[in-house]
Amino acid sequence: MEKLIHSVILEAGDIALQFRSRLDAIQVTKKGAKDLVTEADIAVENHIRSRLTAATPEFGFLGEESPETEGKTSRWIVDPIDGTHSFIHGQYFWSISIALESKGEISHGAVYAPLLHELYMAEKGKGATRNDQTIRVSDTIDLASAMVGTGFACLRAELGDNNLERFCRIALRTMDQRRFGSAALDCCLVADGQMDAFWEQHLNLFDVAAGALIAEEAGATVTDFAGNPGLNPEAVLITNGEILSEMLELM
Ligand code: IPD
Ligand code: CA
Repeated sequence: MEKLIHSVILEAGDIALQFRSRLDAIQVTKKGAKDLVTEADIAVENHIRSRLTAATPEFGFLGEESPETEGKTSRWIVDPIDGTHSFIHGQYFWSISIALESKGEISHGAVYAPLLHELYMAEKGKGATRNDQTIRVSDTIDLASAMVGTGFACLRAELGDNNLERFCRIALRTMDQRRFGSAALDCCLVADGQMDAFWEQHLNLFDVAAGALIAEEAGATVTDFAGNPGLNPEAVLITNGEILSEMLELM
């Protein structure tokens, strides 16, 4: 599976980069008031779906931009471009995310950031890598020294219970903060120690299925905002473990 995922995600990156080379000409449509999608998202997902379903016809497929197809025991979970808004504006922080779920558990994950030339991969129980090099979370032990990241899917969905007050609370207690615009990549930045924690509410499974496995395999904690173990896309908290308890007090 690893070789299949590796080949397909690199091919998908090349397709995305071809569209990026003519950004001013690509079609952009609105899925919601603050939720854009491009023909690049669609083309990338179509390629990934075509390759993966040809290789594993008995597997289901859950992609952000197309109707789900059911499988027997396994399914692919795909975000063709995570950080579409960044992509549209010609920015660097967007990624392609492919996860494989088998019997309800994420067994394989890959997140590829083509413009950063970074490919993160993980298999359950076998660790996590960036460009084939093993990665581990940071050893930051106190919140006051921490670099943390978040996102605002809640604002896109115009939720009343949003992340703004929580962000201010945490920003006042941490060294520095980032909002990169790709939740899949945010998870990987905790996995390789570039950030000490990431949290976001109101995500979708395809945004974080691969990134959460990569982070967990690199030694991160994956919980909801109350500290319950496991991936809950509605309330994702990923930390290096050392600062989990301090983060939970502020969530
Ligand atoms: C988005 C990114 C962003 C997050 C949004 C997601 P998309 O994914 O992950 O970081 O804050 O909520 O929707 O929509 O570009 O695939
Ligand atoms: Ca997407």
